[in-house]
Amino acid sequence: MKHQHTPLNHQQLCPNLTFYDLYPPATDMLAEVSQSLSAPAPSLHPKYFYDEAGSALFDRITRTPEYYPTRTETSLLTGYAEEIRARLNQPQTIAEPGAGSCEKVRLLLDAWQPRHYMPLEISRECLLGASRQLAQDFPDVHISAVCADYCQAMAMPQALAQPGRVVFFPGSTIGNFEPAARGEFLKGLRTLAGPGGALLIGADLQKPDTRLNAAYNDAEGLTAAFNMNALHHLNRELGCQFDTDNMQHVAFYNTARQRIEMHLECLSDQHIHLGERTLTLKSGTRIHTENSYKFTVESFSAELVAAGFTPLSCWTDPQNLFSLHLAQV
Ligand code: AVJ
Repeated sequence: MKHQHTPLNHQQLCPNLTFYDLYPPATDMLAEVSQSLSAPAPSLHPKYFYDEAGSALFDRITRTPEYYPTRTETSLLTGYAEEIRARLNQPQTIAEPGAGSCEKVRLLLDAWQPRHYMPLEISRECLLGASRQLAQDFPDVHISAVCADYCQAMAMPQALAQPGRVVFFPGSTIGNFEPAARGEFLKGLRTLAGPGGALLIGADLQKPDTRLNAAYNDAEGLTAAFNMNALHHLNRELGCQFDTDNMQHVAFYNTARQRIEMHLECLSDQHIHLGERTLTLKSGTRIHTENSYKFTVESFSAELVAAGFTPLSCWTDPQNLFSLHLAQV
């Protein structure tokens, strides 16, 4: 990206909130979706789950009894925030790519009282709302909100460079990346942290299938609704006319590939409208909507090393459900 060389467009929104707009390029949703749905193995990018309804559904998933990752990670963050702070010698800057609603970082802002927080988020609306609220709640933290596609704009503007940044990437979102892309992405996080910086990242752990399958097939049907919401989203935005009554949520742990797979299976032929053309998905076809890779402490540490980090510490819960890794640039 060339943003470093152009004057930064920024706006002072409150005394402790600066908003930087890096103009994330608008994606051509129709072209992207047409291509991935017409492929021999039809798929949809997991980002299509997250419209307003989808984000609300994900929020409810995190509170189901079956979905252990969020509450486990939160208890690790709560329990070890002080220890992490000591390990990092009182970090002053936290950067969070894909910060969304900026909820989890509150825990760290409370415990560490850093000078500076830098959320990066592609959704301008989401970023504005969340950072305004945060600026009010943490008047002593300066917030530099950066509207950017964090996958593409890892090298942040020089004006925002802060030595010793801690990059925070919670939730096992890293599990959505394919193995090759994951390595590249972790290198990007190293660039974002900069010299002297560190990475605090959550990674979900491999465990018996029953537990994993339950977490992605909750009894209340919220994960099924969340998965199906990708189609409601496409119906609304592109007029695809998916008949969602004849589509079915499928989620299972693929042991060989160490990942949860989510699919939407056609229970009847689906005639999908994609702009001017119609695409038929035969009954029985599965649209692959998400992979959520699971790690071991050792496998994930090795990936951190391969990306140029030095692992400092890793914390897990007593049941070994989830891991929180701290690594140095
Ligand atoms: C937000 C990607 C971490 O993979 O567990 C939850 C998304 N999908 N239930 C995950 C998700 C189905 C979640 N991540």
